[in-house]
Amino acid sequence: MSENHRQERDSLRVRIIEVGPRDGLQNESDIISTEAKVSFVDALSETGVAEIEAGSFVSPRAIPQLADSDEVFRKINRKPGVVYSALVPNERGLERARAAAVSKIAVFTAASDTFTRRNINCTVSESIERFRPVVFGAKRDDMTVRGYISTVTHCPFEGAVPPSQVLDVMRQLLDLGVDEISLGDTVGKAAPCDMRRLLDQIVPRIERSRLSLHVHDTCGMAVANVLTAWTEYRIESFDTAAGGLGGCPYAPGASGNVATEDVVYALKASRVSLPVDERKVIAAASEIGKVLNRRLTSRLSQVQTEQIAYEGVA
Ligand code: HMG
Ligand code: MG
Repeated sequence: MSENHRQERDSLRVRIIEVGPRDGLQNESDIISTEAKVSFVDALSETGVAEIEAGSFVSPRAIPQLADSDEVFRKINRKPGVVYSALVPNERGLERARAAAVSKIAVFTAASDTFTRRNINCTVSESIERFRPVVFGAKRDDMTVRGYISTVTHCPFEGAVPPSQVLDVMRQLLDLGVDEISLGDTVGKAAPCDMRRLLDQIVPRIERSRLSLHVHDTCGMAVANVLTAWTEYRIESFDTAAGGLGGCPYAPGASGNVATEDVVYALKASRVSLPVDERKVIAAASEIGKVLNRRLTSRLSQVQTEQIAYEGVA
């Protein structure tokens, strides 16, 4: 690799937000043990990712798979430098997050009412009102707050979603005081042309360091969407799940998140300096895959171990 290439690469930094323990496990039909979840998070802590979404303080009726998040947070080894975050839908969730010493929470809504009703039992406007005391309380306690917007290009019930609806929700979340926004292609239908249509509207209206892209891979477009967001818009954070696990039980037909290892490979090949070790990510995903009794869906997990790491050409 030439010195110019190395210098350029080292100035291009990206944060990987590993959502496998939350988005990855919330959609599994089997409930897995707390110990397996803790081992998964601990293994991910050693991969070099910046942040791990380790659980969810939602109603156990809505997501029984993550009902033990309180215990997971108590048992994980928190590696210095890694941020451990969790979903919080309401004040009850905030209390649980506080008791579990969580330093970053995520409130979550969407750009379409029908999905929001199915997911959190209220309209988008009602969700913003519900989040008001949550964000206020979290900021008072010095927590960082992320605001998720789901269905940013397509809603599983309403179809195509115009960027103006996403922009409107983003403004309301920023007005509440959230620190960052994550844009969710919940159903995984977006292609790069949809991402451009969305990001053309969003990127001029928020600092890029406060924006993350969260794509599911239902139609096989997720890595292309990540590369579009990076190369054309310089989005600096991506939500990904080891092994391509994931999905939302309230988004029928949607498949897993874009795989962490596939995104790491694609970004390294795009001259991004990333401290994440793809092999360790695959090892962590393989262990949880054994517990879940299923094959990983990522491309890189199908490749021979010695061929995994990206090697740049000179
Ligand atoms: P609700 O039924 O309107 O609320 O649900 P409620 O206040 O009437 O509570 C119902 C029951 O839940 C009560 O228990 C509450 O105590 C309990 P009951 O009296 O019936 O026994 N409850 C709680 N328990 C523990 N912790 C709490 C809590 N809150 C209520 N925090 C609610 C509204 C929002 C609570 C519910 O709909 C819910 O929890 N939904 C969560 C759905 C979810 O987690 N979806 C997946 C995450 S979103 C996603 O995956 C998309 C994302 O990845 C981005 C993308 O891909 O686009 C983020
Ligand atoms: Mg998701």
